Amino acid sequence: MPSLLVLNGPNLNLLGARQPEVYGPETLGDIEGMCRAYAEEKGVGLEFAQSNHEGALVEHLHAAKGTHDAVIFNAGAYTHTSVALMDAIASIELPVIELHLSNVHAREAFRHKSYLAPVAIGIICGFGARGYTLAMDAALNHLGAEA
Ligand code: DQA
Repeated sequence: MPSLLVLNGPNLNLLGARQPEVYGPETLGDIEGMCRAYAEEKGVGLEFAQSNHEGALVEHLHAAKGTHDAVIFNAGAYTHTSVALMDAIASIELPVIELHLSNVHAREAFRHKSYLAPVAIGIICGFGARGYTLAMDAALNHLGAEA
């Protein structure tokens, strides 16, 4: 059975209270619950994690190699700044989907740049919490297509 890592970066622990007009009303706990229910329905393994620390996110990515088959990654603001996360993704040889709740391309110009996009298999943004299960579907479809 395939296994997915859903990894969340800085400030996403504040979802629900943090700019709900931008990020939606769901808490990260709500989103984890949606992902767990979907993983059960699809019969796949799931690890769900969050960190506010860039190095901890790098370590989560390293640990995914050999443990999980694909990664869904909402790196938050580190998306727009982090060469270290880009290098980590390039190093682990796992399919990684870049995810954002908001449509970053409809926002400030600094959010249009992604260091992760060149090393991701694809990007989902702008669909709020639903994006997480869309990304799970995309990951499973990619893994199926690879098999
Ligand atoms: C975000 C978009 C980023 O630009 C922002 O820094 C976040 C959240 C999103 O999910 O829409 O923290 O990744």
